[in-house]
Amino acid sequence: MRATAVAQPNIALIKYWGKQNIAENLPATGSLSVTLASLTTRMTVDLNDALQSDQLRVNGEPAADMLPRVSACLDYLLGADRAKASIDSECNFPIAAGLASSASSFAALVVAASHAAGLEADTLSLARAAGRASGSAARSLYGGFVELQTSAQEIHVETILAAEEWPMQVVVAITATGAKAISSGDAMNLSAETSPFYASWVEHQDHDLREARRAVEARDFAALAEVSEHNCLKMHSVMWGSRPPVVYWNNVTLACMETVRALQADGVPVFFTIDAGPQVKAVCLPEAAGQVLKALQQTDGVIDTLQSSLGNAARLLED
Ligand code: DP6
Repeated sequence: MRATAVAQPNIALIKYWGKQNIAENLPATGSLSVTLASLTTRMTVDLNDALQSDQLRVNGEPAADMLPRVSACLDYLLGADRAKASIDSECNFPIAAGLASSASSFAALVVAASHAAGLEADTLSLARAAGRASGSAARSLYGGFVELQTSAQEIHVETILAAEEWPMQVVVAITATGAKAISSGDAMNLSAETSPFYASWVEHQDHDLREARRAVEARDFAALAEVSEHNCLKMHSVMWGSRPPVVYWNNVTLACMETVRALQADGVPVFFTIDAGPQVKAVCLPEAAGQVLKALQQTDGVIDTLQSSLGNAARLLED
């Protein structure tokens, strides 16, 4: 009744920002992401009839704030009459700072919990269970370049290109530490209710998704860079147009974007993307990674950098 799984966060190039059904956490639009290799969440789930309630530790510390979402995810996956779980999560990167720790956490949770319970579940069912807990988590069940499509009833997720078929590097510039002021889920609901740009964002998402999918299939870096930066800035415009506004950037976020623009002007194959946090993710071809890393490290105010290649799907670890 015990299993351990590992999962990596993913970074959306075409973003998920808004839900068509809040109760079922069904995204309003599709999205496209890359799964990372070297940032990992390792989760052990121990299902035990003797426990009175679920227990969750993250990096050795009790994590009561995340527990209700974790328990709800287990109820959905295993049924409410399941045994209670003791869960240990180890994350090797900063949590809740816009690095998608919830994505890797829920992806690892559903893989570990389904095995601990002896449930025969296919990857798509696990992705749907993870996605109910956190929309972006559904994509971390898959490796490489991942596309999520949504209908009025359910999501469909698949790898459209494996990591090794188009190697890339992602350099993350950490510009601030600490938890964000508003969660991505609350912020996107606020955008849907109040941002005058939200309807147009939803309307054009399929177009951006098609463009990005074509760029991935053709391995056209310039085209992927253009549509990814456009989609990222459009999502942040939707946030900025919300009332009250949602602004995750700081001055160092902007400085990092300038660094990436200066590299691009020199012909370096790199582009930026930014999620619900102040960190800047620079996606580049492998030959440019050293130069991109150095330029971001030298950008005033950058606290730290992380680097990763693209990685594989969430998976079970043998005990
Ligand atoms: C900006 O998946 O964290 O990273 O479903 O409410 O848990 P919930 O939202 P979440 O939102 C991710 C938002 C984003 C864009 C993306 O990953 O596509």
